Amino acid sequence: RQNARESLYLVLNFAKNFYQQQLTQTDEGQSVGVSYFRERGFTSDIQKKFELGYSTDTWDALTKEALSKGYTADILLKAGLLIHKEGSQTAGYDRFRGRVIFPIHNVAGKVIAFGARILKTDKSQPKYLNSPETEVYHKSDILYGIFQAKNAIRQQEACYLVEGYTDVVSLHQAGIENVVASSGTSLTTEQIRLIGRFTPNITILYDGDMAGIKAALRGLDLVLEEGLNVSIVLFPDGEDPDSYVRRVGAEAFKDYLKKASRDFITFKTETLLQDAGNDPFRLAAVIGEVVNSIIKIPDAIKRQVFFHRTSEMMKVDEQMLISEGNKLLRKLH
Ligand code: CTP
Ligand code: MN
Ligand code: MN
Ligand code: MN
Ligand code: MN
Repeated sequence: RQNARESLYLVLNFAKNFYQQQLTQTDEGQSVGVSYFRERGFTSDIQKKFELGYSTDTWDALTKEALSKGYTADILLKAGLLIHKEGSQTAGYDRFRGRVIFPIHNVAGKVIAFGARILKTDKSQPKYLNSPETEVYHKSDILYGIFQAKNAIRQQEACYLVEGYTDVVSLHQAGIENVVASSGTSLTTEQIRLIGRFTPNITILYDGDMAGIKAALRGLDLVLEEGLNVSIVLFPDGEDPDSYVRRVGAEAFKDYLKKASRDFITFKTETLLQDAGNDPFRLAAVIGEVVNSIIKIPDAIKRQVFFHRTSEMMKVDEQMLISEGNKLLRKLH
């Protein structure tokens, strides 16, 4: 087992170096990959820091090079780098071709997987391809950027959570280094505990679209349950942290974070209230939902603060909320 994992780390590190070398040392890498990163405003320092790379538009450049260096097809397969042709045990092709490469590191800094972005988006291919689950890559246990962010998270006693790879890279470049990405999937308990190892304070910076808002409302009771303090910042419609920081600059971005940040319970209450309008049945449902979130908070004092706050927002009696909460809690236990 231990050896199997070690050999996966080795071949993944080999692939990372290969993609970096393809980016910086080949004509195609320069004219396609480096230009792409430059257009996005990524400096060469930040490209190095995140060990970004490029996979040339060929069928098996990585596989050929790896085989010639003594790596087996079997290990390439297990690492998720090689895909077998249908029905063939020997012939195959590289998983990542003609894409820019974002290596995904574990907390200790070992490469465990890759995210790969197409250069021009169209409907025929997914924008991102990611490594499959392997013996060293469990998507639901890891957050992109945690290795590069962990010291800053500790120092600032806060962590920003974004959706995408490019949000993490862009924010680092803007001097905001306490940031990790969920990579477009909904948050898991493991990912929340991973952040919780470094700080209890988490601010969610989701994309400013309906999907982002829904995701924010959905997964977050889980974060409350883990005892973390959750805040939310929403971006203007159609923007994400990457596009926004590039448009307004680092200082204005930080000001926006301060101004637009609200705690999750307040955010959820506001959003649901707006949705419900004046319909009394929907208002009743909102009250139920809000109480349901508040009782997930393990700390009794924090719960009390939120019962008070939301009773004012929803214009209902605080004692009624508290007793509803107690009823729900008794049902749970
Ligand atoms: N994602 C994915 N597969 C896709 C689309 C998205 O795995 N087909 C994941 C990626 O980790 C991506 C994240 O979801 O970074 C957020 O998606 P999106 O906001 O669409 O992409 P961005 O990160 O904003 O990428 P870009 O700015 O390059 O369009
Ligand atoms: Mn993920
Ligand atoms: Mn984006
Ligand atoms: Mn995005
Ligand atoms: Mn009170």
